[in-house]
Amino acid sequence: MGIYSKFIFPRLMEKALGSEAAGGLRAEVLAVAVGETLEIGFGTGLNLRYYPRSISRLTAIDPEEMLPQLVERRITQAPFPVRRLKLDAQGRLPFDDESFNTVTTTFTLCSIPDTARTLSEMRRVLKSDGELVFLEHGRSDVSGVARWQDRLNPLQRMLGAGCNLNRRIDQIIASAGFEPVDLQRRLLPHAPRIIADLYLGRARKS
Ligand SMILES: C[S@@+](CC[C@H](N)C(=O)[O-])C[C@H]1O[C@@H](n2cnc3c(N)ncnc32)[C@H](O)[C@@H]1O
Repeated sequence: MGIYSKFIFPRLMEKALGSEAAGGLRAEVLAVAVGETLEIGFGTGLNLRYYPRSISRLTAIDPEEMLPQLVERRITQAPFPVRRLKLDAQGRLPFDDESFNTVTTTFTLCSIPDTARTLSEMRRVLKSDGELVFLEHGRSDVSGVARWQDRLNPLQRMLGAGCNLNRRIDQIIASAGFEPVDLQRRLLPHAPRIIADLYLGRARKS
């Protein structure tokens, strides 16, 4: 892990994704999380303060360990147990089939190279009546914006640690065998237009 991805990117991420507007959306989507919950792409733990009391334990995975002291403090302050594991979600996850009530992903499906493999594992470990909860940015429906997303994607991938601007998150989720229970498209307030297009909601196994 280089200096940029270890020290600079996590701070940029905290600033961009730790806004009040993003916090409001996190609270909104995570409100339905319940029971044993798995978070994919934990980052710096920005979601921790938005989980409801209805979760019994959070298992949080990420291959990177960014800003470890800050993350440790956030974990200590959480009102539920947190198990943090350094894992790549593209591999076989060390969890039994159907072992989680909720699987969450926020601002992460943009960065994972093999989303099909990752979502297939998320589906495997999710209980049959469980829910996938997501808050992601992705491809705009406005053609002029989408064109700029395509143009700037190579640069974004470099500066954003592999983040893609132009993924159709709804299609990626549906093609992995999930059916949306609620799927909303919104704009993230005060964000540059190319990263403002959001896909948020929840889905069940189809
Ligand atoms: C933009 S950050 C978002 C962090 C956090 N989810 C949030 O909402 O603030 C993307 C996160 O995805 C993680 N990530 C990237 N590839 C991953 C993978 N293969 N498996 C799990 N997490 C991954 C990154 O390390 C990073 O923490």
